[in-house]
Amino acid sequence: MKTKLRLGIIGAGSVVREIYQHLYFHSHYSHLLEICAVADPNEQCRNWLADLAGVPPSRRFSDYRELLAKVKLDAVQVNTPDHLHCAPTLAALKAGLDVVVPKPTAATAKDAHAMIQAAKDSRRFLGVDFHKREDPRIKEAEARFQNGRYGTFQTAVFYMLDKLWVADPNHSPRFFATPDFAEKNTPVSFLTVHMADALMKIVNLIPVHVRATGYSQKLPSLKPIPVKGYDLVDTEILFETGAQAHIISGWALPNTAESNTVQSSRIICSDGLIDLGLDTPGLREVHAEGILEVNPLFRNFEKDKTVTGYGISSPGRLYQQILAMQNGKLSATEREAAFQPTTLGFYTTLVLEGAEKSLAEGKKLPGGVTLGPAVDLRELTVRQLGARAAKSYGLA
Ligand SMILES: NC(=O)c1ccc[n+]([C@@H]2O[C@H](COP(=O)([O-])OP(=O)(O)OC[C@H]3O[C@@H](n4cnc5c(N)ncnc54)[C@H](O)[C@@H]3O)[C@@H](O)[C@H]2O)c1
Repeated sequence: MKTKLRLGIIGAGSVVREIYQHLYFHSHYSHLLEICAVADPNEQCRNWLADLAGVPPSRRFSDYRELLAKVKLDAVQVNTPDHLHCAPTLAALKAGLDVVVPKPTAATAKDAHAMIQAAKDSRRFLGVDFHKREDPRIKEAEARFQNGRYGTFQTAVFYMLDKLWVADPNHSPRFFATPDFAEKNTPVSFLTVHMADALMKIVNLIPVHVRATGYSQKLPSLKPIPVKGYDLVDTEILFETGAQAHIISGWALPNTAESNTVQSSRIICSDGLIDLGLDTPGLREVHAEGILEVNPLFRNFEKDKTVTGYGISSPGRLYQQILAMQNGKLSATEREAAFQPTTLGFYTTLVLEGAEKSLAEGKKLPGGVTLGPAVDLRELTVRQLGARAAKSYGLA
């Protein structure tokens, strides 16, 4: 029986620095993983992770295709920017490997569908790390809502706001390895997807329309490198039942904010409501650096250097599932659940694509506001994937 996965890492930027290095080297899952190879065109990122993992120079690559061709592996983790998740995932599945990607599955429904189909066709495992799903507060809300405690879901407001230093390429050290990350991506792709995914997990509904309003008022003023991008986006999601949600996300809060990510939500239903105080996890410190909210539920740096929390257990469980599958121990029920479109982030990717399309087609007001039109997600899916595939997702 296999007890360890030989893992190749494709992409070693900020998500590895912030989350996965702890999973790989200091978690309750580290003994399941052996980092055997690293691919990243950015030499500094590549060597940083390869040095940490003790990967020799012969297994460090600038091109992931070489990693797949030259190293014997059981699985890969694809940590590239969203629009680059699909190609390495398809190549790895084709090479007979299981794959883990960070959220969101991809930048477009078409890519997400191709990845899901390729995993099904190759009978390999695809896991998407939406770590918020493992937040105990989201899980409790899901169970309570789905027991019928609050009646019918009517409307919700979620917000998730990062400090400006995350999006600001002038900040030292820079948060993202990719210098133009905040220009190429939006708060929707980086943040809204977390909250849209958490909401859909709780209420278990299919989104049918999306509309977005974008605010570009702070990022263009940054110096010396301005960023042509959105500070804040309000994404309105309409579900098949007529229920709706506003997911407000941004990355331009002053760096003096009380936590790196200020976030919360209220979900209102016919028979009650749920408040999720996500930014008050219970450890508030008064320190020379300021008054700070620390979130040990996400990453808990324990005394013995082990890192725990849902940021670690979420991907850790995906690797446990991969190991179980490779040992023939993943039950049919678990496998079926792992391949559901919701689990694989299909609807979340659709919301992302719809919101970005709405912004791209929006009316630009003087002063940096973009008012997007409503985007019909059924039409978008049929157009991108064809009627048959759209029907399989309940969208035709
Ligand atoms: N940064 C976070 O805290 C965080 C959290 C959750 C999810 N994510 C997701 O993780 C993914 C990566 O984001 P990031 O924040 O690490 O971005 P980043 O720009 O910091 O790092 C991306 C890395 O991928 C590398 N890369 C680009 N093309 C590549 C290729 N073809 N092959 C191999 N490597 C390649 C880049 O050189 C860079 O080192 C995105 O999907 C993002 O949404 C990030």
